[in-house]
Amino acid sequence: MSELKSLCDITIFGGHGDLAFRKLMPALYHLSNAGYLDEKSRIITATRDSMSHEEHCDLVKLKLKEFLSDDGFEEEKFSYFKKQLHVVIIEFNADESYKGLQDLLNEYPQRERINYLSTAPDFFGTICKTMSHLGLVSPQSRVVLEKPIGRNLQSSHVINDEVLNYFDESQIYRIDHYLGKDTVQNIMALRFSNRFFMPLWDANHIDHIQITVAESVGVEGRWGYYNEYGAMRDMVQNHLMQLLCLVAMEPPCSLDADSVRDEKVKVLRSLRTMTHSDIKEKTVRAQYSKGSIDGIPVPGYLDGDNVNTSTTETFVALRVDIDNWRWNGVPFYLRSGKRMSRQNSEIIIHFKSIPHSIFVNQGKFISENKLVITLQPNESIYLELMNKVPGLSEQMLLKPVELELNTPLKVAHKPDAYERLLLDIIRANPTLFMRLDEVDAAWKWADVILDGWEEDIIPLKSYSAGTDGPSAAVQLIARDGRSWQDE
Ligand code: BG6
Repeated sequence: MSELKSLCDITIFGGHGDLAFRKLMPALYHLSNAGYLDEKSRIITATRDSMSHEEHCDLVKLKLKEFLSDDGFEEEKFSYFKKQLHVVIIEFNADESYKGLQDLLNEYPQRERINYLSTAPDFFGTICKTMSHLGLVSPQSRVVLEKPIGRNLQSSHVINDEVLNYFDESQIYRIDHYLGKDTVQNIMALRFSNRFFMPLWDANHIDHIQITVAESVGVEGRWGYYNEYGAMRDMVQNHLMQLLCLVAMEPPCSLDADSVRDEKVKVLRSLRTMTHSDIKEKTVRAQYSKGSIDGIPVPGYLDGDNVNTSTTETFVALRVDIDNWRWNGVPFYLRSGKRMSRQNSEIIIHFKSIPHSIFVNQGKFISENKLVITLQPNESIYLELMNKVPGLSEQMLLKPVELELNTPLKVAHKPDAYERLLLDIIRANPTLFMRLDEVDAAWKWADVILDGWEEDIIPLKSYSAGTDGPSAAVQLIARDGRSWQDE
């Protein structure tokens, strides 16, 4: 049980959406049952679906049974959680429909209020405006914005400005759920609590860094959304950029929110802006065609119903350069794609080779040290080191071995990213959320590439579902005399 129980009202706008059922409710169920939420706290679902309280609770129960992972569903725990559940029917654009929510919230006007906007960004401004006009925004209110916040810097400004009319920047929590993943937070722990890495973490010792977020799933039921955004906006501008920041940033002077975010934003501002010729050489965009995954045939991106043509990329590979002292000359290779051969998200820090080898190693290569941080499918961190193979061979035989760094720290319940992030919102700790200047800097850099693609500076390539992307991605890194970890 936690020592401090928070008393608050959490309203989830779009509370019958996929994210709410898949991630938010399971996270709140865990937090509630672990004692982080006071039992008088309320979880208010604001939805357009007309239904009674009992019907809503039955639906939440059904979805929890479907989406709760490790601990599973327990009737007793649900009875406790159910007491916190409320539902209000709202048409986001119709002020008068907010009456039920207004009455509910006004029962406890002094309470901390969390407004989780799990809706399309088009509604962000309207919801904030209505809540404010109805007197439901107080200094104790927070608002949580799900990505995508816009399609580019300009549209991101429009949305953020609308929200900023009613909430102060300090009340805004822009979620990037990758920052809530335990292993992602461990990047900071590893880097800044171990002297060992300190002298090695720069261009003198690191040859290059690879960040891959590969998914075997396709766009599932989200074609409409995805087709408008594509892999660059859906994954790279946010998740991969945040991973890159944590790997590349300078040590913050403390763990407080602004110190950490100040360092991340410096990285984003140091990203080298791509020229047209960089876009040709250092970027790849591609879309999957039909193929097979694990022996099962998979349709192509354009093979679904109602789909004719689309140039939306489902795969991106990039070489990114950071223009600062620490990373001068160290390329960051980024890759993300849907319908790839397997789910695999990892960050690989490739150290430089030893200056001179005294080992013949039976003609075998002495491989460079690597730090491999795997986020998915199973979280792990290991250091790849060369070791002697035991035995009496005349010439010493060496092989790489994996030194696992997080084995002793396995825990019974590993919180999901949303559990961590929701708890931080409840505790009003914005460290793991994106400040506006971070979002701006990431868009500014990404916009140049997206604009170049819009102008067709490079063609959209194709890759078969179930592969590791187009050959152009292999060439992108091979041009520098390197290869992707899985090749
Ligand atoms: C979301 C993207 O932000 O992240 C999805 O919109 C993607 O397209 C998902 O599938 C991946 O998240 P995770 O945690 O499963 O890697």
